[in-house]
Amino acid sequence: MKTTLTALALSGLITLPALANTQPTNEEARSIAQQFGGELKPALQNSMKNGGGPVPSIAFCHSKAPQIAYELAQKTGWKINRVSLKPRGATATADNWETTVLERFNAKLAAGTTVKGMEFSEIVTENGVQEFRYMKAIATGNVCLKCHGTDIAAPITGAIHKLYPNDKATGYVKGEIRGAFSFSKAL
Ligand code: HEC
Repeated sequence: MKTTLTALALSGLITLPALANTQPTNEEARSIAQQFGGELKPALQNSMKNGGGPVPSIAFCHSKAPQIAYELAQKTGWKINRVSLKPRGATATADNWETTVLERFNAKLAAGTTVKGMEFSEIVTENGVQEFRYMKAIATGNVCLKCHGTDIAAPITGAIHKLYPNDKATGYVKGEIRGAFSFSKAL
């Protein structure tokens, strides 16, 4: 029985109260970021290579990224999102706290800190509720430029604008901060 419950919890089908109620930590948030990136990036790369290239991969990202966020939230009890100063996704607009943190990440990058491992956490009070908030910067790599870069092919721009008429997530060069994972959990 115990094995079955653990297996279900790991598969994300149920959330064990014991897992959901532990105090949030940087380590836990870091591991969620690793799971998010570790699932999305290879799936995206596979879709780009074997799934018909960038145009179909836009629809792939559109459904896959929110799905991974939802499943991780169910599994861990955290609120899970990705945000940016130049957002594309429906939930990607940074709030005030996230904007400040993203600006700080950009300043650190400008001062020579590498993006890898750039993270920040803080206990904040939102509407009278104390929350542990965590962000981890996401770097722009080569593969990202097809859909977030400075010189995007017309069919790709068309496909992006169909799903995201207010898209701001272009104009990036390699090494810039594309956005960040943003997670929170009530204390
Ligand atoms: C095939 C096109 C495509 C490629 C390649 C791509 N993205 Fe995206 N990206 C998207 C789409 C579409 C969304 C919106 C997803 C959604 O609706 O949640 C997005 C959203 C994001 C977001 C969330 C913030 C926001 O603005 O919505 C981040 C962060 C991000 N991408 C980073 C990357 C990184 C890093 C890479 C390279 C490893 C990359 N992307 C490669 C299409 C792409």
